[in-house]
Amino acid sequence: MLPPAELLAPARELLASRLSERSLAHCERVGVTARAMALRFGVDAEAAELAGLLHDYERDESPAGLLTLAEDLGLTVLPVERESPRLLHARVAAALLRRELPGVGEAVLSAVASHTVGAVPMSDLDRIVYMADMTEPARRYEGVDDLRAACEAGPLAECFRQGYGRSLRQARISGHTLHPVSGAVSAEIERETGRPLFDRAEASR
Ligand SMILES: [Fe+2]
Ligand SMILES: [Fe+2]
Repeated sequence: MLPPAELLAPARELLASRLSERSLAHCERVGVTARAMALRFGVDAEAAELAGLLHDYERDESPAGLLTLAEDLGLTVLPVERESPRLLHARVAAALLRRELPGVGEAVLSAVASHTVGAVPMSDLDRIVYMADMTEPARRYEGVDDLRAACEAGPLAECFRQGYGRSLRQARISGHTLHPVSGAVSAEIERETGRPLFDRAEASR
């Protein structure tokens, strides 16, 4: 594994070969946000910046392209992912980067792979990238400032509870089938924080 700081330049080259300007700008903002969160929560800031940069390496891939890549890379494709191939963009990105960015560590790949539906367990780095993606400065949605405040105030487990809870609420409102891992991620959040995933006030938002 190479030091993450040495991989920032090659990572940017790879991203530029694959992503639109718009997606690149989002990745840069997530890198900056993840770095700031890492400094706040005592996590390796270079690893967080690198993982934030790389997280959406497959953001611009078509649904059909994602399915083909997942199969070529030997990933298990669940029925919900076949129905909504965009769910695969995180795991496909991690699998591609393992090949295309030699020296990238498993901790960074894990954060890339878990940034969409989560995983059990989730490291601090995983949770930072997940939340940086939700709260980077260009994000505009109701409640984003509350999430930003939770990410400022910490603890990380609490800000992730609020962020993951919001994602699940949105998925339900939009009528999306929930990914099977969501139940286990939710249970782990509730166990760790000692709080329900949805507070009464949050549930009504
Ligand atoms: Fe993404
Ligand atoms: Fe993203």
